[in-house]
Amino acid sequence: MKHLLYLKDLDQETISQILDIAENFLNHNNKPIGYENVLENRTLANLFFEPSTRTRSTFEIASKKLGADVINIDEEHSSRTKGETLIDTIKTLEAMGINYFVIRNRKEGVFEDIKNAIEDSTHLISAGESHISHPTQGLLDLVTIRSNKKDFNNIKVSILGDISHSRVTRSLYEGLRIMNAGKIILISPKEYSPDMKIFEGAEYTDDVNKGLKDADVVVTLRVQKERMRNKQVLLETEKYYREYGLTTERIKNCKKDVIVMHPGPMNRGVEIQNEVADGPNSVITQQVTNGIAARMAILSILEERSG
Ligand code: CP
Repeated sequence: MKHLLYLKDLDQETISQILDIAENFLNHNNKPIGYENVLENRTLANLFFEPSTRTRSTFEIASKKLGADVINIDEEHSSRTKGETLIDTIKTLEAMGINYFVIRNRKEGVFEDIKNAIEDSTHLISAGESHISHPTQGLLDLVTIRSNKKDFNNIKVSILGDISHSRVTRSLYEGLRIMNAGKIILISPKEYSPDMKIFEGAEYTDDVNKGLKDADVVVTLRVQKERMRNKQVLLETEKYYREYGLTTERIKNCKKDVIVMHPGPMNRGVEIQNEVADGPNSVITQQVTNGIAARMAILSILEERSG
């Protein structure tokens, strides 16, 4: 395991190990117990070609806690604006001694080209690839689910929102399947329905109350306007909230101890009601804290396994 691009590339043992390490960090207030200074003399570059608050910041915090140096590159302030190719930017940074690249890119398939261009000793971590993959989000979501529900086998996970454009859903689905989750239900308006060939073993419904029935976990998603090629499919905000927003009324369909998750950023009053986002079932801020632990665990394992 040299890179982390897709959760489907991992096996159950590796995911369990990542979750165990992350949970241990969380139990110690995100101190890197057992992995102190594992990234000493290593440098990590955050290259984000799409906006981010959570992923970029938590990678920076996680790698510094493990002893790494960190640099952050924004596309609009980089020489990419002068016509440099992405690969040339990466090779340039590699020549400066970068060991870990954490990259978010809006283009599908770009990671394969990067993987083929970098040195053998360089690590590549996807921080989000188009609508295809967001593996570290998937892992922090698994950490959050396991720490609240203890195991995956008997739980029902309902994912509600713009499924068709959601890399969060793709990665969480891959992780839940590997961990043998009980039931995965995808809920969306027909306009945002997924290609169910990608989600073998999951169920789809456009009936929100039916999809939420007896759920142990609900993951709510933002409508990803930036990924819609055909803007005509964009549903009017009030109609979306009325028909698919997660409200206190709607979560009454779920189990009493349901946990409500959202990868962020949230659009309050569009996909989620304030009272739900800030309510007793919400673990949304827990997800952010867990993001540091999950990313520390991933970096620790990549370093450990590369000898
Ligand atoms: N969940 C997530 O990827 O958030 P950011 O876009 O803020 O990184």
